[in-house]
Amino acid sequence: MESDLTWRGVEIDGWTALALLEWQRELGVDEPMLDAPLDRTDLPPPPKPAPVMPMTAAPAAPMVAAEPDHADFQNEAESLAASAQTLDQLAEAQQSFDGLQLKRGARNFVFSDGDPKARVMIIGEAPGEEEDAQGRPFVGRAGQLLDQMFAAIGMGREVPDATRAIYIGNVLKWRPPGNRRPSPDEIALSLPFLRRQVELADPEVLVLMGNTPCLAALNREGILRLRGKWVEAFGRPALPMTHPAYLLRNPVAKREAWADLLSLADRLKL
Ligand code: URA
Repeated sequence: MESDLTWRGVEIDGWTALALLEWQRELGVDEPMLDAPLDRTDLPPPPKPAPVMPMTAAPAAPMVAAEPDHADFQNEAESLAASAQTLDQLAEAQQSFDGLQLKRGARNFVFSDGDPKARVMIIGEAPGEEEDAQGRPFVGRAGQLLDQMFAAIGMGREVPDATRAIYIGNVLKWRPPGNRRPSPDEIALSLPFLRRQVELADPEVLVLMGNTPCLAALNREGILRLRGKWVEAFGRPALPMTHPAYLLRNPVAKREAWADLLSLADRLKL
């Protein structure tokens, strides 16, 4: 086999080149890094480090800007949320916020559903798979149960009468991977937007569906103890309830959820 290859000044024929290639492949080399082979045994010595000069001036500032940290993102979230004057502006501001990694993995931003003029705002945890696919909160199995629960007291997200309408949002607006629980940092970075969403929608009462909204709005957990007792959240009456996903797994708890719905209907004088 003809070849014009040389290795360290020695001409090698095609068979030898092939054998060398095969030998490298057996050693695990599977990707050429450079166009020409680099003989690291034959490199010039590295340059000597520059002598250290006595310090006469303050050290130069680092050339690379520091990555924003959690506190920077928290401040940004606060100011973006505060500058929104309408729910549409708030949705746009939150969607533009890059402080949450979740945004990169999610398919859709899930802000709200239902009637923003409703007397009741329901706050859930975060979008799941179906919500992520459709860009609407509570549209999966838990969402269907939620619709049935509220229909039982004459309320719903598509009811034209605002006195019986509901408005729905979540603490997080992007789906956490694998539907894991939101982390404390994710809740903290989402909280300014949620607080502003409540202010702008201005519902008469809130329903906190499950532990995550209780943690976000009340800084308390333990939904089985909290449920059914009226508290104050974001400056208005709020009713913690067990999440419909929990009710799907524990149907016996539906009896207590029904009592909570009746308490809500009573409060609204429906
Ligand atoms: N669970 C929630 O808390 N929110 C949704 O939007 C869907 C499921």
